Amino acid sequence: MQRFGLTADVKVSPLVAMLAGAVVAAALGGLSLLRADDIVTGWRNAANVTARTAVPVFLAAYCASSLVRVFGGRLPRALLVNRRSLGLAVAAIMTVHVGAILGHGAVSRDPHAVHVIDSGGLTYVFIYLMALTSNQASRRVLGRWWGVLHGVGAQVILLKFFSLVVLRSWPHLGVFSTVMGAAIVAAVALRIVAFFAARRADGARPA
Ligand code: HEM
Repeated sequence: MQRFGLTADVKVSPLVAMLAGAVVAAALGGLSLLRADDIVTGWRNAANVTARTAVPVFLAAYCASSLVRVFGGRLPRALLVNRRSLGLAVAAIMTVHVGAILGHGAVSRDPHAVHVIDSGGLTYVFIYLMALTSNQASRRVLGRWWGVLHGVGAQVILLKFFSLVVLRSWPHLGVFSTVMGAAIVAAVALRIVAFFAARRADGARPA
């Protein structure tokens, strides 16, 4: 199996993916801190940029199997082969987001900061449960509940990203919110198309 290079069977190890995600998010967060005029804004920008980093990575994992089913091709297959690593990278990036949240909480007296994200804790429960169970052993132990956990968790995380990236700033969306908002809507549409394509394929199969 080839380890690097853009082919379908390129496999990035989960550890490398997690480290890369955490390092990129921490670097972007650190830059936000350095560039801000004051420390409160700096931590707030760091919270924003770390979470924003996770959005495209999450969408790549969220869409991987649907892209393969609907379009096929090398890049979708490479995403699918690396779906677990992508998911774990999201968990690592969102852990850096926790660091930025704590930094912001330590310097800010603004209670609004936490109110904005009041259901975020539940989403974190899904993020970490999914990360901890993203292996074959957990899959065997949990049986059909594994699919329920990962299916529901993916939708909860997607909704959280949509509400924070799009709904919170609606209708004054910047470039990132517009592009990622459109990507999130497209991802949901793609999953629906893939779902019906799978059902049609199952129906056409001889009994
Ligand atoms: C206890 C949980 C959480 C807290 C306290 C928290 C806190 C924060 C804070 C303070 C900001 C900056 C907000 C601002 O600029 O006003 C932020 C931004 C953000 N957070 Fe979190 N967060 C939490 C959980 C989550 C979760 C679970 C997700 C997604 C799965 C998430 C995604 C985001 C996103 C996408 C942004 C950027 C929003 C934008 O682009 O404007 N957060 N968070």
